[in-house]
Amino acid sequence: MGTVTQKVFAPIANDGALVAPPLYHDEARQGSAYAEQQPIAVGLAAPNARLAYIETYGCQMNFSDTEIIAGVLKQEGYTFTREETEADLVLLNTCAIRENAEEKIWNRLKHLKGLKRKRPHLTVGLMGCMAERLKARLLEQEQLVDLVVGPDAYRDLPNLLARVDDGHRAINVLLSREETYADIAPVRLNTNGISAFISITRGCNNMCSFCVVPFTRGRERSRDWQTIVQEARDLYAQGYREVTLLGQNVDSYNHEEVGFAQLLVKVAQVAPDLRVRFTTSHPEDMTDEVLHAMAAHANICKYIHLPVQSGNSEVLERMNRGYSREWYLERIAAIRRILPGCAVSTDIITGFCGETEAEHADTLSLMREVRYDYAYMFHYSERPGTLAARRYPDDIPLEVKKARLQEVIDLQLKHNLERQQEMVGTVQTVLLEGNSKRSEAHYAGRADNNQMVVFAKGDTQYAPGAYVQVRILEATGATLIGELIGTVQTL
Ligand code: 5AD
Ligand code: SF4
Repeated sequence: MGTVTQKVFAPIANDGALVAPPLYHDEARQGSAYAEQQPIAVGLAAPNARLAYIETYGCQMNFSDTEIIAGVLKQEGYTFTREETEADLVLLNTCAIRENAEEKIWNRLKHLKGLKRKRPHLTVGLMGCMAERLKARLLEQEQLVDLVVGPDAYRDLPNLLARVDDGHRAINVLLSREETYADIAPVRLNTNGISAFISITRGCNNMCSFCVVPFTRGRERSRDWQTIVQEARDLYAQGYREVTLLGQNVDSYNHEEVGFAQLLVKVAQVAPDLRVRFTTSHPEDMTDEVLHAMAAHANICKYIHLPVQSGNSEVLERMNRGYSREWYLERIAAIRRILPGCAVSTDIITGFCGETEAEHADTLSLMREVRYDYAYMFHYSERPGTLAARRYPDDIPLEVKKARLQEVIDLQLKHNLERQQEMVGTVQTVLLEGNSKRSEAHYAGRADNNQMVVFAKGDTQYAPGAYVQVRILEATGATLIGELIGTVQTL
């Protein structure tokens, strides 16, 4: 799944922490043993209500989880603030995917320790993937937090907070085979009122050798399709016009004989003017049936995030990705055949264990073949406890990893611009999200293929959520500049 940054990350020494095997709720009963950071919301505090401040790092799934955490806290009477300095409860919803993601959190925790000195009643909690990975070390060794809660334990927050109120430190990092939070009403904290996330699966069964996610988020489970469709209906009724279905591997969605293609159709049928997006697709599992479902519904956006990771079959084998270069290119060919003009983005890792210059060159050649519309690019960061960490030496020098990453980024920037230039002169249906961040005189919204388009308002007055026709005039490589042509009646 693409995370929200595209930076080249600075090197940070391995912390050498050990990853304990994941604990599952049911095993425990039997006695065996994830824009960067977008704080938050809104709401007038009721008298004596506690104020919570939540910061989110990492992938979209984590942003979606923050809305579930907020849903649990709301039931407990919490309201939310954008100011950490006035909060009674500060929660960091963390990411463990790369070392650099974790380093940021350590720095934030040190800062919050300072804040706690000034406000002794302040409770600081660490949520999410890093909580899962580091477990008790965060409470005991470092003593930087009062509360540690893994991604499957948010329902337990009220009990854990009560323990903290009684003067204890509290932890729950049990993973679950069932938890989907299907019945928890998310509080939409980062919302523009137009676009919302809906989690459809949790966890991952894939075991890519580089990836910490199976350890931090546990086994894959699919949420029931009925509550997914109901959530989409509720969002539509509230004025939302775009939903993004989220899962580590949406293609393996399966609930009561409803697979991902059928789920997509059910959500698309909620309303003809509700745009449906999804992420992340796995090349091994993405079927033609899904592509045909997309082709048959105008409101399913023609955009697929299909992480390749590497363009070389031997590297893919070491990564345990379950497909070869040829398989991947055949999936791209299927997209081009069934969905002409569909945008495709990807994730790429450079400098994976044992990657030779020739293998790296294969990644560049695959990029040239596919010409991605967009890519999230990273250099390999060894995660303790993963298959790769146990099996292969992390033997590519950092300087080489970074140099290869730079080559990949340079090529992708060229493709970003070329792909955008191909859109110049076309008329796009844009879902208006609001004013452009840079200018009150401009609107901003996304085209069907996920490109951000900015255009002058002139004397028009459209509300966010309107579909408009925009002719593309200029490509900048980042945002497209267009001119407003008119309103769209049907998608
Ligand atoms: N090092 C570098 N990048 C990683 N990713 C996942 N694990 C690692 C790692 N250990 C990247 C992959 C994935 C994306 C979410 O993050 O490209 O698709
Ligand atoms: Fe998302 Fe957790 Fe993976 Fe980070 S480690 S990208 S938060 S699932």
